Amino acid sequence: MSKPKIFIANPVPNHVEEYISNHCEIVKWDFTKPKDFQGILEIVKDVEGIIEVGLKIDENLLSKAPKLKVVSNISVGYNNFDIEAMKKYNIIGTNTPGVLDETVADTIMGLIINSGRRLCEAERDLRAGNWEKGDGDKYFGKDIHHSTLGIIGMGRIGECVARRAHLGFKMDILYYNRRRNEAAETKYNANYLTMDEVLSKSDFVLVMTPLSDETYHFMGEREFKLMRKDAFFINASRGQVVDEKALIEALNNKEIAGAGLDVFEKEPTDKDNPLLKMENVVTLPHIGSATQKTRDEMAMFAAKALVDVLQNKKSDGIVPELR
Ligand code: 8YV
Repeated sequence: MSKPKIFIANPVPNHVEEYISNHCEIVKWDFTKPKDFQGILEIVKDVEGIIEVGLKIDENLLSKAPKLKVVSNISVGYNNFDIEAMKKYNIIGTNTPGVLDETVADTIMGLIINSGRRLCEAERDLRAGNWEKGDGDKYFGKDIHHSTLGIIGMGRIGECVARRAHLGFKMDILYYNRRRNEAAETKYNANYLTMDEVLSKSDFVLVMTPLSDETYHFMGEREFKLMRKDAFFINASRGQVVDEKALIEALNNKEIAGAGLDVFEKEPTDKDNPLLKMENVVTLPHIGSATQKTRDEMAMFAAKALVDVLQNKKSDGIVPELR
């Protein structure tokens, strides 16, 4: 029996490619060249599967991919999927839930600690030769331990952060989620409140909601105004969940104390983005899940989901809307 042809649109580790090649015929993008949409369309017209990161899967692409059955994201976020278009063309989409939770939660704790205690700012100063005697109070920050963490989006990653914060740092956990998460309440003593209450009571507000039509610009002018002046805003989900202009305004007007950001509305973000110039903002280039082990596991999970769907097997990777 001939193997289904699939398209590898982003680099995967050798062992993952080997696994896919045992089950599929592979067409790979030439990774020495930048991606161009026309080139991608040329390839997808002939394949049954795609494994990729962040490729827009919409009417435009699907209408030119008559043999396509499955698209496998090497990411937990799947806002690149146009779910309605995928339903129309009967395409299965998969993501990588679970395997990255602990790693992303580590990054988030890093953002919380670094923004609250101003570690990056102090380090920049030190490297610039600005360590002077008598700087005692110059770097005073906000305690992390025993402070209040508000989590907007108490899913798997939110829970991993709540565990670290509650057990390790003795923080009080408040949360808002579309659905109540009773397990998090029992395990981490988390308090289920309205979004406005979470915003107004927290020392650190963490946004962890997936990006969708409902959560686009979820955090805007009104929401930042509800936050406390001494509170920090943390985002490690998707940049578009936040109205970045409103965030910049809130920081400029000192309506909030600072921010820790792994994601931006436009990625890679422009080097003249004002957020990159603010001392009280910790910025990372979307590295939430970036450890070798986790990225390898994500790629393998995505590869297995791709092959499973092509072999008509069950897969935990299929996104809920397309099951
Ligand atoms: C990755 C992510 O940085 O999984 C996600 O949704 O945002 C991150 O884990 C991204 O997918 C690139 O691999």
